[in-house]
Amino acid sequence: MRSTLLAIFLLAVSCSTAPKVATYLDESQPLEKRVEDALSRMTLEEKVKILHAQSKFSSAGVPRLGIPELWTTDGPHGIRPEVLWDQWNQAGWTNDSCTAFPALTCLAASWSEEMSALYGKAIGEEARYREKDVLLGPGVNIYRTPLCGRNFEYMGEDPYLAGKMCVPYIQEVQKNGVAVCVKHFALNNQEANRHTYNAVVDDRTLYEIYLPAFKAAVQEGGAWSIMGAYNLYEGQHLCHNDRILNRILKEEWGFDGAVISDWGGVHNTEEAITNGLDIEMGTGTNGLDSKYGKSYDAYNLALPYLERLKDGRASVEVLDDKVRRVLRLNFRTAMNNSKPTGSLCSPEHYDAARRIAVEGIVLLKNEDDILPIDIESTKKILVVGENAIKKMTVGGGSSSLKAQYECTPIAGLREAVGDKAEIVYQRGYVGDLLRTYNNVDTGIDLTDPRSEEELISDAVAAASDADIVLFFGGLNKAKGQDSEGCDRDSMALPYAQNKVIEALAEVNDNIVVLIVSGNAVEMPWIDKVEGVVETWFLGTQAGHAIADVLLGKVNPSGKLPFTFPVRLEDNGAHALNAYHKDSLTVEYKEGIFVGYRWAEKHNIKPLFAFGHGLSYTTFEYGQAKCRKSGDGFKVSLDVTNTGAREGQEIVQLYISDHESSLERPVKELKGFRKIRLAPGETKEVTFEIEPDMLKFYDPAQSGWVLEKGSFTAHVGASSDDIRTRVDFQK
Ligand code: GLC
Repeated sequence: MRSTLLAIFLLAVSCSTAPKVATYLDESQPLEKRVEDALSRMTLEEKVKILHAQSKFSSAGVPRLGIPELWTTDGPHGIRPEVLWDQWNQAGWTNDSCTAFPALTCLAASWSEEMSALYGKAIGEEARYREKDVLLGPGVNIYRTPLCGRNFEYMGEDPYLAGKMCVPYIQEVQKNGVAVCVKHFALNNQEANRHTYNAVVDDRTLYEIYLPAFKAAVQEGGAWSIMGAYNLYEGQHLCHNDRILNRILKEEWGFDGAVISDWGGVHNTEEAITNGLDIEMGTGTNGLDSKYGKSYDAYNLALPYLERLKDGRASVEVLDDKVRRVLRLNFRTAMNNSKPTGSLCSPEHYDAARRIAVEGIVLLKNEDDILPIDIESTKKILVVGENAIKKMTVGGGSSSLKAQYECTPIAGLREAVGDKAEIVYQRGYVGDLLRTYNNVDTGIDLTDPRSEEELISDAVAAASDADIVLFFGGLNKAKGQDSEGCDRDSMALPYAQNKVIEALAEVNDNIVVLIVSGNAVEMPWIDKVEGVVETWFLGTQAGHAIADVLLGKVNPSGKLPFTFPVRLEDNGAHALNAYHKDSLTVEYKEGIFVGYRWAEKHNIKPLFAFGHGLSYTTFEYGQAKCRKSGDGFKVSLDVTNTGAREGQEIVQLYISDHESSLERPVKELKGFRKIRLAPGETKEVTFEIEPDMLKFYDPAQSGWVLEKGSFTAHVGASSDDIRTRVDFQK
């Protein structure tokens, strides 16, 4: 008995003398308890200090309490090179090259949640290794117009697909103790006048089209931060928009993270304080412009805020909500001592980049099975076009990278073909000579003294005896192409590309056009070429991935995440003259009828439909069956690989509502499955149809409604290639 009492006494004494770790530093404590403890220890000045930038890409911590700074980094496709304290230009470090992953249009085109998870894991590890706390991405703005300069950074025209495809990326990034910052919230669907245009959108369109991907990012992905957009909605800038940030994001969706402004996106101190902004980041030291001299204290959420707090014009309750959110973000990232170490430019990341690339490449046309190239019977391959030799990871705005390595298409082809065939290159056209961005240099001099006519005649001469011509064109990252800060003027291929393709088609029947882009383009020559491939911007592994598909090492399986209209007027925003570069009011007159929803409402045949993508094999769909399942339905069918080689098929489920009090699209994507099938193999594919999937948003009821009536489940290989249907009653 005495020894037990002695042991208890000694234990009590030892505990009382151990140094007590402050609650906020004790990771064994619940997050909210740590947040409250830290908040209670902070002065007013310290609270305000963590709500705004202290440098181009960082916000302050609380040095006195050992709470670290928060470091952010672009971008969605790779980790931006280090910049100087107050500059956009790279700092010239020699240890900050990265893996350039494919652009997010490619990820969306893979329709593979497995690839999304792989992507998030890899890029999250690179951000972690570079000791960044917040990754400024992914972007999930809906593809409203083919002219938007930043569509290449986003995930297409369908809110369901964009939502499904961003969630695994988000979850995996954040497993590294790195926050995502999902952007640009919201309605940033064009670059023209991006800082000043006011989006006029009805509630139904807002809730059914432009918010769902962000809602999925928050409620399914668990995003720890969100970036306010530059534009306005209902006359308020999205970086301080009461309805979008307070009412919808924080109250309706229960978002517990931090809202970070886009850089220089804050224009009103009072609104910045009351309308849901938590961290103000900036372009210049005064937050808005690039004039130096003013300190970061000039930011709206800096001294102006402190003054209002001290003279009682601003409430401490609102302040403390912001501080809690920033502390929560900090504890999940910078102060998270159990996060993994990360890695940079590893073989695993290079492999991930290549896998995502090949799964996203879309085979749009393959007449006479011109692809894959039969290298055994091919003597001469002519490669034409600037985009075969141009590096695409440099430029385009904030997603620009300093890639450790970028395999161009021509390099990938040469490596894969070796001496099995002769590869001849002809420029064909001169487009953009861009070779540096923010002081990152591609090292490639693209100047060419030849005239347009000479370039074309040289290419045509080389084509006359080629077994196959591969034309690499499309867009690039120059202003007016796929680039932040401006939109395209048209859907036409820029430079002399169309002329070159037409001239080549005069002398050679075996032409494959490869479109390197993040946007749809017109194809007036479509009937004169045998093959068309959309290759996206594929980053580090571009050339290897393209060669894998062209030479048949990999069977392409990507499908379009947005419609390729024949002409611009076939797109809803343009048909209604509702896209403007010359007006600061942009009324989304097409409403919910975006992309294929517009095309099907108006029976417009697209050049290539949403969800379209071919394979080197063929798939047969059995009859879909539908049966009750709980308070929903289960739709199932068999899919068989009827070809001679393995392949992946993306089986798509669309639903039509035939009786609704409000007009609905002809059908809407409500499910997809990417399945791999060996030759002759059959798999059953099953979709659960939950009641929520049948709802539409009714502004009159300010909510989602389910109406009884008849529905149809359409299952197919594309929105315009439905293979089987089944009706059901709700
Ligand atoms: C840019 C972009 C945003 C980027 C930020 C930091 O203006 O709109 O996407 O993350 O500023 O570069």
